[in-house]
Amino acid sequence: MIELKNVNKKFGSGQTALDNVSLEINDGEFVFVVGPTGSGKTTLIRLLIRELLPDSGKIIVDKEEITKKNYKKISALRRKTGVVFQDFKLLWERTLAENVALPLEVLGLPGKEIKNKVNQLLDKFKLSDLAQKFPVQISGGELQRVVIARAMIAEPKILLADEPTGNLDPKTSWEIVKLLSDINSSGTTVLMATHNADIVNSLGKRVIRLEHGKIIKDEKEGKYER
Ligand SMILES: Nc1ncnc2c1ncn2[C@@H]1O[C@H](COP(=O)(O)OP(=O)(O)OP(=O)(O)O)[C@@H](O)[C@H]1O
Ligand SMILES: [Mg+2]
Repeated sequence: MIELKNVNKKFGSGQTALDNVSLEINDGEFVFVVGPTGSGKTTLIRLLIRELLPDSGKIIVDKEEITKKNYKKISALRRKTGVVFQDFKLLWERTLAENVALPLEVLGLPGKEIKNKVNQLLDKFKLSDLAQKFPVQISGGELQRVVIARAMIAEPKILLADEPTGNLDPKTSWEIVKLLSDINSSGTTVLMATHNADIVNSLGKRVIRLEHGKIIKDEKEGKYER
């Protein structure tokens, strides 16, 4: 479902972000992407939602080559790909329920349908009590659950999570990973970039390790050696 073929990406000053990266991720897989700071994890995620284009190479998502210059289905791509960014990207003047509703508003769904879907999902994610609060009023772990709920509201086939446990304590980190694992069990392909060795080593999922933009390891039940 996701395929990269010889993908290269450099930034302005000649900084190599991805160096001849090829990989395949099947439908329904759970994949960790690990590697030191600056190894290319976030760049990989930004390429997968076509926020960036590679300098060379191809990226195929759901049988469509998204790297074509004249690719016209960006909104369809974003609909099938939920993203959780390192810095949340929440709207701080909106309630949590309104934040979660956003992707459905963009899709132009009727208000009543949006309300129903949001309530259902908040309930499922145990966030109903927080629906009318604002982002500044809740904890980091709760914020992260809201961001995941927003990423899942349009029922994407793929969920990309960039260090979703970055600023959380171990217990809360585990709750977030459990949530992502449940999402994966219901059929969504999950790619999670992380520095959290404990989580990677406990889950026994596929681990892709990047260093200086190159894949140096890709193991089915991988470990994260520091
Ligand atoms: N917009 C940009 N402009 C210039 N260089 C960039 C840009 N984005 C990333 N880079 C560079 O590309 C390389 C890969 O960055 P990337 O953000 O993908 O790493 P990362 O693995 O996500 O790191 P971290 O673990 O710190 O989040 C780094 O050397 C970085 O400095
Ligand atoms: Mg990053």
